[in-house]
Amino acid sequence: MEQTFIMIKPDGVQRGLVGEIISRFEKKGFYLKGMKLVNVDRTFAERHYADLSAKPFFDGLVEYIISGPVVAMIWEGKNVVLTGRKIIGATNPSESAPGTIRGDFAVEIGRNIIHGSDSVESARKEIALWFPDGAENWGSSIQSWIYE
Ligand code: TYD
Repeated sequence: MEQTFIMIKPDGVQRGLVGEIISRFEKKGFYLKGMKLVNVDRTFAERHYADLSAKPFFDGLVEYIISGPVVAMIWEGKNVVLTGRKIIGATNPSESAPGTIRGDFAVEIGRNIIHGSDSVESARKEIALWFPDGAENWGSSIQSWIYE
C-alpha cells in the first residue's frame, strides 16, 4: 500500500501540536508505520531539501528545520501522498483552507509546522533518507472497516 513521509517541523513540536496532527491522520484512517523524534544536522536538512537549494529561502528553511527536534513519520494508506497533502493544506498558510493543518494552526510560510511528500517518488526517497532501516510492518485489525 502507498506510503508517505510526514514531518512535524520544530515549531509544530514546540507549540504542542504533535498529538493534534497525528490524530488527524489517524482519524482519517491512515496507519502509522514509523515515527521518531529527532534533531537533524545541517547536512541532513540540506539533503532533505536538496531540490530547493537554489531558492532564496533555502538557508532560512534549513536554519528553521535544525532549530529543534522534529517528528519524522511514515504514514500508509490508499492515496496517502495526495490526501496527506490535502490534510496538510497549501504551502502558504494564508492560502491554506480552514480545516487543513496549516489553515488551522499556521500563519507564515516560513513557519508552516509540517512537511508532507509531494509525490509517490519523493515519498520513497524521503522515507529511505529518514528511515534507512525501514519501518514496522504491522497490519491493522480494523482494515476491513476502512477498505472494501
Ligand atoms: P515547498 O516544497 O515548495 O512546499 P511544501 O512544503 O508545501 O511541499 O517548500 C518547502 C518549504 O519551504 C515550505 O514548506 C516552506 C518553505 N518555503 C518558504 O519559506 N518560502 C517560500 O516562498 C516557499 C515556496 C517555501
